Amino acid sequence: MTIRFAEENELDRINDLRKQVNDVHVEGKPEVFKPGFGEELKDFIKVIWNDPEQSIVVAESEGDICGFAVLHHINKPENPFMYERDFLDIDEFCVDKDHRRQGVASALIEFIKTYAKDQGYKRIELNMWEFNQDALAFYEAAGFETFRRYMEMFI
Ligand SMILES: CC(C)(COP(=O)(O)OP(=O)(O)OC[C@H]1O[C@@H](n2cnc3c(N)ncnc32)[C@H](O)[C@@H]1OP(=O)(O)O)[C@@H](O)C(=O)NCCC(=O)NCCS
Repeated sequence: MTIRFAEENELDRINDLRKQVNDVHVEGKPEVFKPGFGEELKDFIKVIWNDPEQSIVVAESEGDICGFAVLHHINKPENPFMYERDFLDIDEFCVDKDHRRQGVASALIEFIKTYAKDQGYKRIELNMWEFNQDALAFYEAAGFETFRRYMEMFI
């Protein structure tokens, strides 16, 4: 397996994986996420591709893209409450359903950590939906810790 940055001709396959993430979100939070994966969502990969602050990392195994991550450089300037924050955000993350529990996501995270260190980042951040306990179990196994929570109450 090879972990590397994506090439433009791989965006359609990456969209297959983005649909898998969307399906997980639709099933877990149907009042929030729209079902299907229409043209607007598909085209959004081009916005990511053309944004100099974002990049796409892929896992390739036997000529197939079996996992990907979208990396996003975030800078939040200082404000009266907070110091400046500058970090690498993992915006989207998925391993193809037929390749899970084989260490693909772990390899992606190791690549991202090395890249982030080389680029001078001190911190990697991501957010996830609470229902997604599989993702939580992975992120915790990979060494991420919860530092903030969103809470809700249906009334
Ligand atoms: C979460 C996800 C990325 C994990 O990918 P993966 O390649 O299967 O993860 P790895 O094989 O590297 O797992 C490493 C370790 O994480 C933990 N882990 C991973 N998936 C797990 C699961 N479903 N349940 C419990 N622990 C899990 C285990 O400790 C695992 O080690 P082990 O297999 O030796 O027990 C994958 O399940 C996925 O793409 N899910 C759907 C999309 C998604 O939810 N993306 C995140 C959106 S925020």
